[in-house]
Amino acid sequence: MKIAFFSTQPYDIVFFNKHKEEFGYELVYFESSLTKETANLVDGAEAVCVFVNDKLGVDVMEALAAKGVKMIALRCAGFNNVDLAAAKSNGIQVCRVPAYSPEAVAEHAVAMLLTLNRKTHKAYNRVREQNFSLNGLLGFDVHNKTVGVVGTGNIGKAFCKIMLGFGCKVSAFDIIANKDLEAIGVAFKPLSEVLACDIISLHCPLNDQTKHIINDQTIAMMKKGATLINTSRGGLIDTKAVIKALKAGQIAYLGIDVYEQEEKLFFRDLSSDIIQDDLIQRLMSFPNVLITAHQAFFTEDALNQISQTTLKNIKDFHENGKLENQAAFLA
Ligand code: NAI
Repeated sequence: MKIAFFSTQPYDIVFFNKHKEEFGYELVYFESSLTKETANLVDGAEAVCVFVNDKLGVDVMEALAAKGVKMIALRCAGFNNVDLAAAKSNGIQVCRVPAYSPEAVAEHAVAMLLTLNRKTHKAYNRVREQNFSLNGLLGFDVHNKTVGVVGTGNIGKAFCKIMLGFGCKVSAFDIIANKDLEAIGVAFKPLSEVLACDIISLHCPLNDQTKHIINDQTIAMMKKGATLINTSRGGLIDTKAVIKALKAGQIAYLGIDVYEQEEKLFFRDLSSDIIQDDLIQRLMSFPNVLITAHQAFFTEDALNQISQTTLKNIKDFHENGKLENQAAFLA
């Protein structure tokens, strides 16, 4: 069986090729994202493999169905970019990789927090310029701070545990409280109380309920001088509201690995281009904002798991019609 890959990066080829022998499929890689037009590249492939910024709406589903595609295998956890109803009506199954090294993402969220706080990125450059002054590098102890976690699934859980290890007081908001986390000291509270913590980290999926969960009203629930980290999905944050809050000092530090309009920017080298997106340019101009380009998942361990689980998802469906990791919203 042939599998067509879209939005392929060199590292995808390395990791999928490493595992493909175990599964015996033919893998065809395309650099372009999957659109109605590029769906024409699918030639005899029964499955397509896509990533976070491929937008799979009705038009793409119809184009894929016309080409005989039976399965979409997301090589990521989130599936907010896929119209599941359109997939269903076109007879296409959708699966994802629900938990590949959640620690990779949680650890990146912590890296962002520590970088923003202790300004190691600035210290690195400063020392290389033989500037050994400490002025402007003042941070705070993470120990004893209150940490609010929105979404305590695989990644949020891992993040809570790391923060408990730092000696923080961790509270969380989720539609379902997690008993195991409660047992180790995480307090489940209403969103308004969780947002009033010193440090807030977002780990819920992007859906109709969570779109712009960080907005003018919820920012007003935050402590002045809060730190906000988002490694989940850009659409969780109303960027204009956050820019206002950064200008007012309501948010003292912002770390984002995801951005609402990231599909036009991330995973590309645009160093010679004129960026047309004024909001990201404004964000990049703040000294207290750290942006990484959707790299939280990017560890060797995670890429090994992603490629193995993705190929196993396809094999299970292809050979037994089994869909263990079907992308579906909670009922
Ligand atoms: P998960 O499905 O294990 O957990 C999500 C949690 O969010 C669940 O506990 C769920 O009950 C909760 N939730 C759902 N709706 C909610 C709401 N309205 N309010 C509060 N909580 C809500 O997902 P996982 O693996 O922890 O991933 C979380 C998100 O992280 C993914 O949806 C994805 O968008 C993002 N992600 C980002 C990566 C990156 O590289 N930056 C890599 C992997 C995932």
